Amino acid sequence: MIKVLVFGKNGQLAQSLAWRSSAFAGLSLQFLDRNDCDVAQSDNITKAVDLHRPDIILNATAYTAVDLAENEPELARRVNCDAVRTMAENAARHLVPFVHISTDYVFDGEGKKPYRETDPVAPLGVYGATKLAGEEAIRAITNQHLIFRTSWVYSPFGKNFVKTMLGLLGDKTHISVVDDQQGCPTSALDLATAILRIVPDIIRPGFDQFGTYHLVSGTEMSWCAFSREIQAKAIEIFGPQWPGATCEIQAVTSAEFPTAARRPSYSVMAPEKFRANFGFGLPEFDQSLMAVLQNLAEGDAHA
Ligand SMILES: NC(=O)c1ccc[n+]([C@@H]2O[C@H](COP(=O)([O-])OP(=O)(O)OC[C@H]3O[C@@H](n4cnc5c(N)ncnc54)[C@H](OP(=O)(O)O)[C@@H]3O)[C@@H](O)[C@H]2O)c1
Repeated sequence: MIKVLVFGKNGQLAQSLAWRSSAFAGLSLQFLDRNDCDVAQSDNITKAVDLHRPDIILNATAYTAVDLAENEPELARRVNCDAVRTMAENAARHLVPFVHISTDYVFDGEGKKPYRETDPVAPLGVYGATKLAGEEAIRAITNQHLIFRTSWVYSPFGKNFVKTMLGLLGDKTHISVVDDQQGCPTSALDLATAILRIVPDIIRPGFDQFGTYHLVSGTEMSWCAFSREIQAKAIEIFGPQWPGATCEIQAVTSAEFPTAARRPSYSVMAPEKFRANFGFGLPEFDQSLMAVLQNLAEGDAHA
């Protein structure tokens, strides 16, 4: 059995890992929630790693409140950088690999073509800056790391754009959605499956594909286009009588929808490096969104 210690239990990725792990017989995942281990206290991390003695450490915690982070930069830094540094130090001390998730918000969005892993970073806000600091801390501590930058994560779990949209579409006659930010919506279920699939490779002696990867669905769109996809597919699943079927979706600019944190206008990331090095990519967007919506419709997921 490969022992995977997962920091985080209740977030989108952690719940997706837990759910999808049943299909991976050789893996034993131990999840730690905030009560088991508040990662903002670095001692807790070290104690947890010493106790569980994992074969691999996976970080599914993050301070993800992009706007709130502008007012809580210290807490965001503790979780997104200091805790990550401590996890990397522990991975290095125990000679085990460290898998971490980062974000498209390390980019400023001024690019015109999908960002590659080697493109310059320049975060616009506290969240992106603290996530970048976490990446840099890992690289300085251990070569045995995999940093997966992903974007616009949705799933049947927790809070996310798909669930918010389903609620709004069902409740309102019309909604306004930002149309001048482009990104790649990515299912946490797909992220989880991809990560679990490569775990046996990662711990194999001689594994030489460590590094930073963009792990996203290959389809780019705006938030507004994403909301229209959600509506169209929800109609397929729930039928034309679904109250959200007739809600009108109006495209607006970011300027019309001010937020505390600035967001990149173009944060599309190129997933080719992952595909080339690991031999597979994430499923198509249509299939992934349908899977999450079907799951929500069947009521398999909670929270
Ligand atoms: N969500 C996105 O759109 C998105 C986009 C790009 C990249 N990412 C990255 O993808 C990864 C997974 O994101 P996600 O969507 O699964 O995030 P999420 O749903 O917001 O989950 C984050 C988890 O971190 C936990 N956490 C936060 N502070 C903690 C602390 N001090 N001690 C222990 N646990 C703590 C939270 O615990 P509680 O449940 O107790 O609050 C929560 O369960 C993150 O690295 C994130 O930066 C996400």
